Amino acid sequence: TSVALAFSGGLDTTVCVSLLQEEYGYDEVVGVTVDVGQPESEFEEAQETADAHGLDLHVVDAKDEFADLCFDSVRANATYQGYPLGTALARPVIANAILEVAEEEGCDALAHGCTGKGNDQLRFEVVWRASDLDVVAPVRELELTREWEQQYAEEHDLPVQSGNSGVWSIDTNLWSRSVEGGQLEDPGYVPPEDIYEWTDDPANATETELVEITFEDGYPVALDGEDRSPTELIETLNEQAGKHGVGRTDMMEDRMLGLKVRENYEHPAATTLLTAHEALEQLVLTKDERDFKRSIDDEWAQKGYEGLVDHPLVDALEGFIDETQSRVTGTVTIKFQGGQARPVARESEYAAYSEDAASFNTSGVGDITQQDATGVAKYHGFQSRLANAAIDAAEND
Ligand code: ARG
Ligand code: SIN
Repeated sequence: TSVALAFSGGLDTTVCVSLLQEEYGYDEVVGVTVDVGQPESEFEEAQETADAHGLDLHVVDAKDEFADLCFDSVRANATYQGYPLGTALARPVIANAILEVAEEEGCDALAHGCTGKGNDQLRFEVVWRASDLDVVAPVRELELTREWEQQYAEEHDLPVQSGNSGVWSIDTNLWSRSVEGGQLEDPGYVPPEDIYEWTDDPANATETELVEITFEDGYPVALDGEDRSPTELIETLNEQAGKHGVGRTDMMEDRMLGLKVRENYEHPAATTLLTAHEALEQLVLTKDERDFKRSIDDEWAQKGYEGLVDHPLVDALEGFIDETQSRVTGTVTIKFQGGQARPVARESEYAAYSEDAASFNTSGVGDITQQDATGVAKYHGFQSRLANAAIDAAEND
Protein backbone atom coordinates (compact mmCIF):
# COMPACT_ATOMS: atom_id res chain seq x y z
CA THR A 1 0.00 0.00 0.00
CA SER A 2 1.17 3.54 -0.63
CA VAL A 3 0.32 7.00 0.59
CA ALA A 4 0.95 10.43 -0.99
CA LEU A 5 2.11 12.92 1.62
CA ALA A 6 1.97 16.70 1.38
CA PHE A 7 5.67 17.18 2.05
CA SER A 8 7.45 20.46 2.77
CA GLY A 9 10.61 19.21 4.45
CA GLY A 10 9.54 20.98 7.63
CA LEU A 11 9.31 19.34 11.04
CA ASP A 12 5.68 18.12 10.86
CA THR A 13 5.89 16.48 7.46
CA THR A 14 9.36 15.03 8.07
CA VAL A 15 8.13 13.23 11.17
CA CYS A 16 5.06 12.09 9.21
CA VAL A 17 7.19 10.16 6.70
CA SER A 18 8.45 7.82 9.42
CA LEU A 19 5.13 7.55 11.20
CA LEU A 20 3.26 6.64 8.02
CA GLN A 21 5.59 3.67 7.64
CA GLU A 22 6.07 2.68 11.26
CA GLU A 23 2.71 3.46 12.83
CA TYR A 24 0.38 3.24 9.86
CA GLY A 25 2.19 0.44 8.02
CA TYR A 26 2.32 1.96 4.54
CA ASP A 27 4.95 0.24 2.35
CA GLU A 28 5.61 3.34 0.36
CA VAL A 29 5.38 7.07 1.05
CA VAL A 30 5.27 9.31 -2.01
CA GLY A 31 6.30 12.85 -1.04
CA VAL A 32 4.74 15.70 -2.97
CA THR A 33 6.04 19.24 -2.70
CA VAL A 34 3.94 21.80 -4.53
CA ASP A 35 5.62 24.97 -5.68
CA VAL A 36 3.39 27.93 -4.84
CA GLY A 37 6.33 30.32 -4.64
CA GLN A 38 8.26 29.20 -1.57
CA PRO A 39 11.90 30.30 -1.45
CA GLU A 40 14.38 28.07 -3.32
CA SER A 41 15.92 27.01 -0.01
CA GLU A 42 12.73 25.19 0.98
CA PHE A 43 12.93 22.95 -2.08
CA GLU A 44 16.57 22.19 -1.37
CA GLU A 45 15.69 21.31 2.22
CA ALA A 46 12.77 19.18 1.08
CA GLN A 47 15.03 17.33 -1.38
CA GLU A 48 17.76 16.79 1.22
CA THR A 49 15.28 15.48 3.74
CA ALA A 50 13.68 13.26 1.10
CA ASP A 51 17.07 11.87 0.08
CA ALA A 52 17.99 11.14 3.69
CA HIS A 53 14.67 9.29 4.06
CA GLY A 54 14.93 7.47 0.75
CA LEU A 55 11.64 9.18 -0.06
CA ASP A 56 10.39 9.38 -3.64
CA LEU A 57 9.81 13.14 -3.99
CA HIS A 58 7.63 14.75 -6.63
CA VAL A 59 7.85 18.49 -7.11
CA VAL A 60 4.87 20.04 -8.86
CA ASP A 61 4.99 23.60 -10.17
CA ALA A 62 1.65 25.26 -9.45
CA LYS A 63 2.94 28.81 -9.17
CA ASP A 64 1.09 30.26 -12.14
CA GLU A 65 -2.15 28.57 -11.20
CA PHE A 66 -1.80 29.92 -7.67
CA ALA A 67 -0.93 33.42 -8.90
CA ASP A 68 -4.11 33.40 -11.02
CA LEU A 69 -6.14 32.56 -7.93
CA CYS A 70 -4.43 35.37 -6.01
CA PHE A 71 -5.51 37.76 -8.75
CA ASP A 72 -9.09 36.49 -8.54
CA SER A 73 -8.84 37.46 -4.88
CA VAL A 74 -7.68 40.96 -5.87
CA ARG A 75 -10.82 41.41 -7.97
CA ALA A 76 -12.77 40.50 -4.82
CA ASN A 77 -10.64 42.83 -2.60
CA ALA A 78 -10.26 39.72 -0.48
CA THR A 79 -8.86 39.92 3.02
CA TYR A 80 -9.74 37.98 6.17
CA GLN A 81 -9.82 40.05 9.35
CA GLY A 82 -7.60 42.52 7.55
CA TYR A 83 -4.85 40.37 6.02
CA PRO A 84 -4.53 38.93 2.48
CA LEU A 85 -5.35 35.25 2.01
CA GLY A 86 -2.00 33.59 1.31
CA THR A 87 -2.11 30.29 3.17
CA ALA A 88 -5.83 29.83 2.62
CA LEU A 89 -5.76 30.23 -1.18
CA ALA A 90 -2.69 28.05 -1.59
CA ARG A 91 -4.24 25.03 0.13
CA PRO A 92 -6.79 23.99 -2.54
CA VAL A 93 -4.11 24.41 -5.23
CA ILE A 94 -1.68 22.23 -3.25
CA ALA A 95 -4.36 19.66 -2.37
CA ASN A 96 -5.42 19.27 -6.00
CA ALA A 97 -1.83 18.88 -7.20
CA ILE A 98 -1.17 16.17 -4.60
CA LEU A 99 -4.38 14.36 -5.48
CA GLU A 100 -3.30 14.29 -9.12
CA VAL A 101 0.08 12.77 -8.26
CA ALA A 102 -1.59 10.24 -5.95
CA GLU A 103 -3.93 9.13 -8.71
CA GLU A 104 -1.12 8.88 -11.28
CA GLU A 105 0.98 6.84 -8.86
CA GLY A 106 -1.92 4.62 -7.87
CA CYS A 107 -1.72 5.56 -4.18
CA ASP A 108 -4.29 4.27 -1.71
CA ALA A 109 -4.28 7.25 0.59
CA LEU A 110 -3.45 10.92 1.05
CA ALA A 111 -1.74 12.39 4.10
CA HIS A 112 -0.99 15.83 5.52
CA GLY A 113 0.95 17.04 8.55
CA CYS A 114 -1.60 19.59 9.78
CA THR A 115 -2.64 19.74 13.41
CA GLY A 116 -6.17 19.17 14.64
CA LYS A 117 -6.35 22.78 15.77
CA GLY A 118 -5.84 24.69 12.56
CA ASN A 119 -7.55 25.61 9.33
CA ASP A 120 -5.30 23.76 6.93
CA GLN A 121 -6.62 20.29 7.80
CA LEU A 122 -10.06 21.45 6.69
CA ARG A 123 -8.80 23.09 3.50
CA PHE A 124 -6.84 19.99 2.41
CA GLU A 125 -9.49 17.50 3.29
CA VAL A 126 -12.38 19.27 1.61
CA VAL A 127 -10.53 18.66 -1.66
CA TRP A 128 -9.34 15.15 -0.86
CA ARG A 129 -12.60 13.81 0.55
CA ALA A 130 -14.22 14.34 -2.85
CA SER A 131 -11.97 11.46 -4.05
CA ASP A 132 -12.13 7.77 -3.15
CA LEU A 133 -8.73 7.75 -1.46
CA ASP A 134 -8.28 7.39 2.29
CA VAL A 135 -7.26 10.49 4.22
CA VAL A 136 -4.62 10.22 6.94
CA ALA A 137 -3.65 12.98 9.37
CA PRO A 138 -0.91 11.62 11.66
CA VAL A 139 -0.28 14.79 13.71
CA ARG A 140 -3.98 15.06 14.52
CA GLU A 141 -4.71 11.36 14.90
CA LEU A 142 -1.68 10.63 17.10
CA GLU A 143 -2.18 13.86 19.09
CA LEU A 144 1.38 14.98 18.37
CA THR A 145 2.91 18.11 19.84
CA ARG A 146 5.78 20.03 18.32
CA GLU A 147 7.96 19.22 21.31
CA TRP A 148 7.28 15.52 20.81
CA GLU A 149 8.10 15.90 17.13
CA GLN A 150 11.36 17.66 17.88
CA GLN A 151 12.40 14.89 20.24
CA TYR A 152 11.29 12.19 17.82
CA ALA A 153 13.26 13.80 15.01
CA GLU A 154 16.34 13.94 17.21
CA GLU A 155 16.06 10.35 18.42
CA HIS A 156 15.50 9.04 14.90
CA ASP A 157 18.21 11.22 13.44
CA LEU A 158 15.73 12.82 11.07
CA PRO A 159 17.03 15.83 9.17
CA VAL A 160 15.00 18.93 9.94
CA GLN A 161 15.61 22.45 8.76
CA SER A 162 18.58 23.75 10.64
CA GLY A 163 17.82 27.47 10.39
CA ASN A 164 14.66 27.82 12.43
CA SER A 165 14.45 24.11 13.33
CA GLY A 166 10.96 24.37 14.62
CA VAL A 167 11.22 27.60 16.63
CA TRP A 168 8.50 29.15 14.47
CA SER A 169 5.98 27.44 12.28
CA ILE A 170 6.33 29.20 8.94
CA ASP A 171 4.24 29.01 5.80
CA THR A 172 5.44 30.82 2.70
CA ASN A 173 3.98 31.27 -0.76
CA LEU A 174 3.80 34.02 -3.39
CA TRP A 175 1.01 35.89 -1.65
CA SER A 176 2.23 35.88 1.95
CA ARG A 177 4.63 34.61 4.54
CA SER A 178 3.13 33.55 7.85
CA VAL A 179 4.91 32.96 11.14
CA GLU A 180 3.31 31.47 14.21
CA GLY A 181 4.01 29.27 17.20
CA GLY A 182 6.81 29.33 19.78
CA GLN A 183 6.94 32.48 21.88
CA LEU A 184 4.56 34.18 19.45
CA GLU A 185 1.78 32.19 21.11
CA ASP A 186 1.97 34.73 23.93
CA PRO A 187 -0.08 37.68 22.61
CA GLY A 188 1.97 39.96 24.87
CA TYR A 189 5.30 38.91 23.35
CA VAL A 190 6.77 41.56 21.04
CA PRO A 191 8.24 39.73 18.02
CA PRO A 192 11.94 40.20 17.37
CA GLU A 193 12.78 41.90 14.08
CA ASP A 194 14.27 38.66 12.76
CA ILE A 195 10.94 36.87 12.33
CA TYR A 196 10.53 39.08 9.24
CA GLU A 197 12.19 38.06 6.01
CA TRP A 198 10.24 39.83 3.30
CA THR A 199 9.92 43.26 4.85
CA ASP A 200 12.55 45.66 6.08
CA ASP A 201 11.87 47.50 9.31
CA PRO A 202 9.53 50.33 8.21
CA ALA A 203 11.51 52.61 10.53
CA ASN A 204 14.53 52.24 8.23
CA ALA A 205 12.55 52.92 5.06
CA THR A 206 13.33 56.59 4.60
CA GLU A 207 13.24 56.81 0.79
CA THR A 208 9.99 56.95 -1.12
CA GLU A 209 9.21 55.25 -4.42
CA LEU A 210 6.37 55.40 -6.95
CA VAL A 211 5.07 52.43 -8.93
CA GLU A 212 2.36 52.43 -11.56
CA ILE A 213 0.10 49.40 -11.76
CA THR A 214 -2.10 48.78 -14.78
CA PHE A 215 -5.35 46.83 -14.48
CA GLU A 216 -7.45 45.19 -17.18
CA ASP A 217 -10.89 43.93 -16.16
CA GLY A 218 -9.75 44.10 -12.55
CA TYR A 219 -6.62 41.99 -13.17
CA PRO A 220 -3.21 43.56 -12.59
CA VAL A 221 -1.38 43.23 -15.93
CA ALA A 222 1.56 45.64 -15.98
CA LEU A 223 4.09 47.34 -13.74
CA ASP A 224 5.41 50.77 -14.70
CA GLY A 225 4.01 50.26 -18.19
CA GLU A 226 5.62 46.86 -18.75
CA ASP A 227 3.46 43.77 -19.18
CA ARG A 228 4.12 41.18 -16.49
CA SER A 229 2.72 37.72 -15.79
CA PRO A 230 0.88 37.42 -12.48
CA THR A 231 3.77 35.47 -10.95
CA GLU A 232 6.38 38.01 -12.09
CA LEU A 233 4.29 40.91 -10.91
CA ILE A 234 3.86 39.44 -7.45
CA GLU A 235 7.52 38.46 -7.09
CA THR A 236 8.72 41.90 -8.20
CA LEU A 237 6.36 43.78 -5.92
CA ASN A 238 7.20 41.59 -2.93
CA GLU A 239 10.81 42.76 -3.29
CA GLN A 240 10.04 46.36 -4.15
CA ALA A 241 7.37 47.02 -1.54
CA GLY A 242 9.11 44.79 1.01
CA LYS A 243 12.11 47.14 1.00
CA HIS A 244 9.78 49.89 2.23
CA GLY A 245 8.44 47.72 5.01
CA VAL A 246 5.03 47.49 3.36
CA GLY A 247 2.64 44.71 4.40
CA ARG A 248 3.15 43.55 7.96
CA THR A 249 0.32 42.20 10.08
CA ASP A 250 0.48 41.15 13.74
CA MET A 251 -2.93 40.00 14.85
CA MET A 252 -5.22 37.73 16.80
CA GLU A 253 -6.99 35.62 14.22
CA ASP A 254 -10.27 33.76 14.67
CA ARG A 255 -9.80 30.35 13.12
CA MET A 256 -12.57 28.22 11.69
CA LEU A 257 -12.77 25.99 14.75
CA GLY A 258 -13.24 29.07 16.91
CA LEU A 259 -9.76 29.27 18.40
CA LYS A 260 -8.07 32.65 18.56
CA VAL A 261 -4.46 32.43 17.41
CA ARG A 262 -1.66 34.98 17.28
CA GLU A 263 -0.43 35.34 13.72
CA ASN A 264 2.27 37.35 12.01
CA TYR A 265 2.16 37.93 8.28
CA GLU A 266 4.20 39.62 5.59
CA HIS A 267 2.47 40.43 2.30
CA PRO A 268 4.06 43.41 0.48
CA ALA A 269 2.82 42.62 -3.05
CA ALA A 270 -0.65 41.64 -1.89
CA THR A 271 -1.07 44.86 0.09
CA THR A 272 0.13 46.92 -2.87
CA LEU A 273 -2.14 45.24 -5.42
CA LEU A 274 -5.21 45.17 -3.17
CA THR A 275 -4.74 48.85 -2.34
CA ALA A 276 -4.30 49.80 -5.99
CA HIS A 277 -7.29 47.75 -7.09
CA GLU A 278 -9.58 49.33 -4.57
CA ALA A 279 -8.36 52.79 -5.58
CA LEU A 280 -9.36 52.05 -9.17
CA GLU A 281 -12.78 50.76 -8.13
CA GLN A 282 -13.28 54.03 -6.23
CA LEU A 283 -12.83 55.86 -9.52
CA VAL A 284 -14.96 53.75 -11.85
CA LEU A 285 -17.73 52.09 -9.84
CA THR A 286 -20.84 53.87 -8.64
CA LYS A 287 -21.43 54.13 -4.89
CA ASP A 288 -24.30 51.65 -5.17
CA GLU A 289 -22.10 49.08 -6.87
CA ARG A 290 -19.32 49.58 -4.35
CA ASP A 291 -21.66 49.27 -1.37
CA PHE A 292 -23.21 46.09 -2.72
CA LYS A 293 -19.89 44.66 -3.86
CA ARG A 294 -18.53 44.93 -0.32
CA SER A 295 -20.93 42.21 0.80
CA ILE A 296 -20.08 40.08 -2.26
CA ASP A 297 -16.37 40.59 -1.54
CA ASP A 298 -16.79 39.64 2.13
CA GLU A 299 -18.53 36.45 1.13
CA TRP A 300 -15.82 35.60 -1.43
CA ALA A 301 -13.11 36.19 1.20
CA GLN A 302 -14.93 34.03 3.74
CA LYS A 303 -15.18 31.13 1.30
CA GLY A 304 -11.53 31.70 0.32
CA TYR A 305 -10.51 31.57 3.98
CA GLU A 306 -12.41 28.31 4.42
CA GLY A 307 -10.62 26.74 1.44
CA LEU A 308 -13.90 26.58 -0.45
CA VAL A 309 -13.00 28.35 -3.71
CA ASP A 310 -14.75 25.50 -5.56
CA HIS A 311 -18.05 26.22 -3.81
CA PRO A 312 -20.83 26.98 -6.34
CA LEU A 313 -21.49 30.15 -4.34
CA VAL A 314 -18.07 31.41 -5.39
CA ASP A 315 -19.01 31.00 -9.07
CA ALA A 316 -22.19 32.94 -8.43
CA LEU A 317 -20.31 35.71 -6.62
CA GLU A 318 -17.84 35.84 -9.48
CA GLY A 319 -20.74 36.41 -11.86
CA PHE A 320 -21.33 39.73 -10.11
CA ILE A 321 -17.63 40.44 -9.78
CA ASP A 322 -17.05 39.84 -13.52
CA GLU A 323 -19.85 42.24 -14.40
CA THR A 324 -18.33 45.04 -12.31
CA GLN A 325 -14.70 44.38 -13.27
CA SER A 326 -15.26 45.00 -16.98
CA ARG A 327 -14.77 48.68 -16.11
CA VAL A 328 -11.89 48.23 -13.67
CA THR A 329 -9.36 49.02 -16.38
CA GLY A 330 -6.80 51.77 -15.96
CA THR A 331 -3.72 52.66 -13.95
CA VAL A 332 -3.02 53.49 -10.32
CA THR A 333 0.15 55.06 -8.96
CA ILE A 334 1.18 53.81 -5.55
CA LYS A 335 3.63 55.57 -3.29
CA PHE A 336 5.74 53.47 -0.94
CA GLN A 337 6.65 55.45 2.10
CA GLY A 338 7.50 54.47 5.67
CA GLY A 339 5.81 51.07 5.62
CA GLN A 340 2.76 52.29 3.71
CA ALA A 341 1.53 51.71 0.17
CA ARG A 342 -0.72 54.66 -0.62
CA PRO A 343 -2.56 55.44 -3.85
CA VAL A 344 -1.50 58.87 -5.10
CA ALA A 345 -2.93 58.93 -8.65
CA ARG A 346 -5.45 56.98 -10.71
CA GLU A 347 -6.88 57.13 -14.22
CA SER A 348 -9.33 55.19 -16.34
CA GLU A 349 -11.44 55.72 -19.44
CA TYR A 350 -14.33 54.36 -17.35
CA ALA A 351 -14.00 56.97 -14.57
CA ALA A 352 -17.47 57.76 -13.21
CA TYR A 353 -16.12 61.18 -12.41
CA SER A 354 -16.44 64.65 -13.88
CA GLU A 355 -13.80 67.11 -12.84
CA ASP A 356 -15.97 69.84 -14.24
CA ALA A 357 -18.91 68.77 -12.05
CA ALA A 358 -16.93 68.29 -8.85
CA SER A 359 -14.69 71.33 -9.18
CA PHE A 360 -15.03 74.27 -6.80
CA ASN A 361 -13.90 76.44 -9.67
CA THR A 362 -16.95 75.89 -11.86
CA SER A 363 -20.30 77.17 -10.75
CA GLY A 364 -22.78 74.39 -11.63
CA VAL A 365 -23.06 70.89 -13.15
CA GLY A 366 -24.21 71.12 -16.77
CA ASP A 367 -27.58 72.82 -16.63
CA ILE A 368 -27.89 72.16 -12.88
CA THR A 369 -27.00 75.24 -10.84
CA GLN A 370 -25.70 75.34 -7.26
CA GLN A 371 -28.97 77.01 -6.26
CA ASP A 372 -30.82 73.83 -7.30
CA ALA A 373 -29.27 72.18 -4.24
CA THR A 374 -31.21 74.53 -1.93
CA GLY A 375 -34.33 72.33 -2.10
CA VAL A 376 -32.26 69.24 -1.32
CA ALA A 377 -30.68 71.03 1.64
CA LYS A 378 -34.11 71.96 3.00
CA TYR A 379 -35.34 68.37 2.92
CA HIS A 380 -32.08 66.83 4.18
CA GLY A 381 -32.61 65.35 7.65
CA PHE A 382 -36.37 65.99 7.49
CA GLN A 383 -37.37 62.84 9.37
CA SER A 384 -34.69 63.31 11.96
CA ARG A 385 -35.95 66.87 12.64
CA LEU A 386 -39.51 65.58 13.09
CA ALA A 387 -38.39 62.80 15.38
CA ASN A 388 -36.25 65.10 17.55
CA ALA A 389 -39.08 67.61 17.81
CA ALA A 390 -41.43 64.84 18.96
CA ILE A 391 -38.91 63.67 21.57
CA ASP A 392 -38.51 67.23 22.89
CA ALA A 393 -42.28 67.73 23.05
CA ALA A 394 -42.83 64.43 24.87
CA GLU A 395 -40.05 65.17 27.40
CA ASN A 396 -41.49 68.62 28.15
CA ASP A 397 -44.96 67.20 28.73
N1 ARG B 1 -3.76 30.85 10.32
C1 ARG B 1 -3.41 31.22 8.98
C2 ARG B 1 -4.46 30.71 8.03
O1 ARG B 1 -5.22 29.88 8.39
C3 ARG B 1 -2.05 30.78 8.53
C4 ARG B 1 -1.50 29.52 9.05
C5 ARG B 1 -0.19 29.26 8.38
N2 ARG B 1 0.50 28.14 8.91
C6 ARG B 1 1.68 28.22 9.52
N3 ARG B 1 2.20 27.13 9.93
N4 ARG B 1 2.30 29.36 9.70
O2 ARG B 1 -4.53 31.16 6.90
C1 SIN C 1 -1.75 23.73 11.52
O1 SIN C 1 -2.54 23.78 12.48
O2 SIN C 1 -1.36 22.65 11.05
C2 SIN C 1 -1.22 25.01 10.90
C3 SIN C 1 -2.08 26.18 11.10
C4 SIN C 1 -3.42 26.11 10.47
O3 SIN C 1 -3.75 25.12 9.81
O4 SIN C 1 -4.23 27.06 10.65
